[in-house]
Amino acid sequence: MKICMIGAGYVGLVSAACFSDFGWNVTCIDKDEGRLALLNRGEIPIYEPGLDDLVARNVAAGRIQFSGSLPEAVRDADVVFLAVGTPVRRGDGYADLTYVFEAVEELAPHIRDGIVITTKSTVPVGTGREIERRLKALRPDAEFAVCSNPEFLREGSAIRDFTHPDRVLVGCDEGRGRDIMARIYEPLSLRSAPVMFVSRESAELAKYAANSFLAMKITFINEIADLCEEVGADVSEVATAIGADGRIGPKFLNPGPGYGGSCFPKDVSALARTAREARAPVTLVEQVEKVNMERKIAMGARVERASGGSVHGKTIAVLGVTFKPNTDDMRDAPSLVILPMLQSRGATVRACDPQGRPQAEQLLPDVEWFVDPIEAAQGADVLLVLTEWNEFRALDLKQLRSAMSGDVLVDMRNVYSPRHAQDAGFSYSGIGRGT
Ligand code: NAD
Ligand code: UGA
Repeated sequence: MKICMIGAGYVGLVSAACFSDFGWNVTCIDKDEGRLALLNRGEIPIYEPGLDDLVARNVAAGRIQFSGSLPEAVRDADVVFLAVGTPVRRGDGYADLTYVFEAVEELAPHIRDGIVITTKSTVPVGTGREIERRLKALRPDAEFAVCSNPEFLREGSAIRDFTHPDRVLVGCDEGRGRDIMARIYEPLSLRSAPVMFVSRESAELAKYAANSFLAMKITFINEIADLCEEVGADVSEVATAIGADGRIGPKFLNPGPGYGGSCFPKDVSALARTAREARAPVTLVEQVEKVNMERKIAMGARVERASGGSVHGKTIAVLGVTFKPNTDDMRDAPSLVILPMLQSRGATVRACDPQGRPQAEQLLPDVEWFVDPIEAAQGADVLLVLTEWNEFRALDLKQLRSAMSGDVLVDMRNVYSPRHAQDAGFSYSGIGRGT
């Protein structure tokens, strides 16, 4: 089986590496020459645990190659996967499909009969039909199938998620598309991963519905956490109690500063717009988008409150700026709202993050960066935890406290035990720990 993967980003690169590890021959195409140069030197352009070893092993075995030359890779392929970005369209909040349709135009001249074109990018319902329409217009002579295969991996655990999925979802009609997709995922289905075949529209919509549901779950527990603080309850106890009910489930009930990342914010926004356009508004999802945006701003105000009402002239040491641990991805990270807000109120910000700094330096101006959390905390009035990297969990709180000049610890990921923090001399505030 020969695969052409268009896009060597978080999804394309991980999928390409995992498919090559199944034994398929994969050519991964990207437009970004810098990214290609790194890959061809054996370096991985993103931080994803385990990806360097996986890529190296499959490069050495000759099963994966990286190229900027689309024609050759498409001509040879049984399947072309589209794994290009689908960011929010500026101005109206819809999914921007520019990269998807550009890729379709580029590949059209090179397809041969029997080829399968599959979207792995998250695309609004109806995009598969539109891709088919455009391809037919460009290549009326060619026979091909267009499938949808939305990806459910998470950054930070992407390889495990890809190779041990809760399900693989494929949207297509009966016929060659379905046969080829079944064959590609056979290494997983033979290990009992459910490969579900549904209509293309159902697959496209299910991806947005899944991300929006998870975003809703997080938003729900965030609001319950706020309530806990007012009434003296503890959100972790409440989450454990409700999560024990199999109908609710224990996952995605960790409160925090609001969800971020490259997908939840944009996919919630796109689903809300798609639904309005289809005259079937999902008002619950619209509310999730609004509440989550307001939460990030409220988190800035929370730091001010914890600092005695103002951060003017104060120094804030920040542990973690990425939207979640185990990634270098800064897209829509809560830090991008909270830190500029604190700076605009007169605070000086010092920060450290195990992997986020290269991207964050471009996005967060006037932040002083440190490798060591204790150094970042030196002389600070306030310590603010924004990302729950494991590296921060075992820090010596007494050492941190004595490095600082103030005693405020705002723990937006509930990484520390309130009692340990208080014993170390901190004035501690977490999320939803109302007691
Ligand atoms: P990304 O921005 O990391 O990578 C996209 C890559 O595509 C870039 O390297 C870009 O240079 C390349 N590209 C764009 N147009 C191209 C073209 N015409 N030819 C060749 N290369 C091209 O994006 P990502 O985070 O990997 O997301 C890709 C898609 O997968 C999105 O639709 C996203 O919603 C979806 N998704 C992402 C995740 C995730 O964890 N990041 C998970 C599931 C689904
Ligand atoms: C998410 C989904 O989990 C994946 O299934 C999906 O494929 C992906 O989006 C996508 O479509 O791109 P990801 O964004 O990598 O994956 O990370 P998550 O672990 O879902 O976290 C997203 C955000 O929610 C983070 O900011 C995280 O801190 C926050 N979160 C998550 C919470 O605040 N509480 C939780 O309990 C879980």
